[in-house]
Amino acid sequence: MELPLIARTRPQSGVRKMMELAWGRADVVHLEVGEPGFDTPDHVKEAAAKAARDGKTKYSPTPGLPELREVAAAKIRRVNGIDCETSQVLVTNGGANALFGIFGTVLGAGDSILLPNPGWSNFTMMTKAFGARPLYYDLAGGNGYLPDVDQLASLVDDTTRALLLNSPSNPLGTVLDRRKAEELFAFAEERDLWIVSDECYDQIDFSGRHVSIGSLEPKPERVISVFSFSKVYAMTGWRVGYAALPKRVVDPMLGLLQPSVMCVNTPAQYGALAALSGPQEYLDDWRETYRRNRDLVLSRIAGSRYSAMSPDGGFYVWLDISAFGERSEAFALRVLDQCNVAVTPGTAFGTNGEGYVRLSLATTREKLDIGLDRLLRA
Ligand SMILES: Cc1ncc(COP(=O)(O)O)c(C=O)c1O
Repeated sequence: MELPLIARTRPQSGVRKMMELAWGRADVVHLEVGEPGFDTPDHVKEAAAKAARDGKTKYSPTPGLPELREVAAAKIRRVNGIDCETSQVLVTNGGANALFGIFGTVLGAGDSILLPNPGWSNFTMMTKAFGARPLYYDLAGGNGYLPDVDQLASLVDDTTRALLLNSPSNPLGTVLDRRKAEELFAFAEERDLWIVSDECYDQIDFSGRHVSIGSLEPKPERVISVFSFSKVYAMTGWRVGYAALPKRVVDPMLGLLQPSVMCVNTPAQYGALAALSGPQEYLDDWRETYRRNRDLVLSRIAGSRYSAMSPDGGFYVWLDISAFGERSEAFALRVLDQCNVAVTPGTAFGTNGEGYVRLSLATTREKLDIGLDRLLRA
């Protein structure tokens, strides 16, 4: 029996493709990975283990453990400056599940959404899963790798429902500052668009300039903000994220989470609770490590055939390889084969990634140094 067209034409993740090629090869320096090299802190593991030992192994409510929603709401108010109530916070299977639920809630078949190019490839996959259409806006050197409102205005039509923003950005490391956020908010307001703000790297901001766009409205009405434990707390495999939603979006979103995931792994939610309620100082140390790794990359590539802008947040460097005159995928395959360094081709993030590869800073200084030695010989 034939699968429906929507399933047969489903795009795949270019990021995972590279990871799969690199896995299992000996002596590869992995600069393609999108997850922290740090281990989840012991107090988080212990809280989850204790929850399991104490029999907290049943379903939780679909919106999440009440106590986790409460501390997440407090964090969103304190760190992100968004005035949301506990009832507006949903706990999800990572930021990915939150985004999937939101896309499925604000987009109908035939609708369109403004997506960044380059941007995380899952945004496109999610859009297509709901029969909607991506409208790509450029993040390019000419506009400081930030969204340009005039271009956004030229792309929207009467099918457009939402603007997806990602700050700090994967793969660029750019952040939306207050001025840019205000400009984008005014644009979305004028066109009556939802703003889906992916802030899964929110606390990895070296510049101190990242502004949560949701903080620009008195209460969440237009902006849906997504956060995650994965990158910030080194908990990628735990699968816990959370979102702050306008009140009228909560129930429709639960209508997707309930049939698809029922709830997030209960012991993992206790781990996440410990992550948010426990010490936070190590986040500063980790951020400092990423920043030092960033500076190491920038100083080592100075004067070489590579160039890069300095990322303000996240843990990636968007490396310009255009001087090699090779397509980015061919370059990535060549350095994997010849030099045993895995990087992600820029085209895994969209057409504007041609001429770039993404390097991850989420590794040790030693590995980064070896990886750079090899790349500089490429
Ligand atoms: C931009 C961006 N958003 C969201 C996610 C989702 O991460 P998770 O589902 O682990 O929270 C990722 C993961 O790579 C990402 O890069």
